[in-house]
Amino acid sequence: MRVIIKNDYRGMSREAARIVAHQVLAKPESVLGLPTGDTPTMMYEELVNMYKLGLLDFSRVVTFNLDEYYGLSPDHPQSYHRYMRENLFDHVNATNENIHIPDGRTKDAKSACKSYQEDLSRYGKIDLQVLGIGPNGHIGFNEPGTDWGMTVGLVRLSDTTRNRVAPRFGGIKNVPVHAITMGIKTIMRSKKILLLASGKAKAIPTKRAIEGPITEAVPASVLQLHPDVTVILDQEAASQL
Ligand code: PGA
Repeated sequence: MRVIIKNDYRGMSREAARIVAHQVLAKPESVLGLPTGDTPTMMYEELVNMYKLGLLDFSRVVTFNLDEYYGLSPDHPQSYHRYMRENLFDHVNATNENIHIPDGRTKDAKSACKSYQEDLSRYGKIDLQVLGIGPNGHIGFNEPGTDWGMTVGLVRLSDTTRNRVAPRFGGIKNVPVHAITMGIKTIMRSKKILLLASGKAKAIPTKRAIEGPITEAVPASVLQLHPDVTVILDQEAASQL
């Protein structure tokens, strides 16, 4: 595991964008695993800038998003479909058939999870999986205690996670109870992993993930077992290491 510490959020984002850009330049048909949330927004902004400068081509890049809230339509302001369009896909030349995000509206979650996994398997392995980390140590929506053998599945969101996002949904009652997420097993099959964390709220979970015991109570701690992980932190997120 390599740990890179940058001064601030901008530095973390630029370093992350550089690593993603290197991947795409080295292999234009790369399969990228992509996260949502506050952490990667500036990384996406940097990638869009590189695209606008003519430095990056997304036309052959294949993407698989980590997760989506169960029950939200792709146009819902808090859906990850919407997030990805607004932060990346509306601004670059990625093609619709190469973009994959779990279907939050499906009535048959079991088949939707199975077909997401099958889509992914058709491409072999994810070349570069980018991850954020939740204050409770989750990656994707693999909450503490999630079965690490799951490939893609419908999971129940923890109260911590639901309460954290409640203000964005206008109250806890509007926050979905479930989500579809890529499981730990699928994440761990990726060839390379990039874990990003910024801010004080991530200092403890980052320390537990990197330096603590490998335990289902801290899903990100599983990354200690992956052979090619780069962690990019800002000073605040690194403050407890
Ligand atoms: P954040 O979320 O980037 O919005 O902090 C990360 C996560 O919960 O995985």
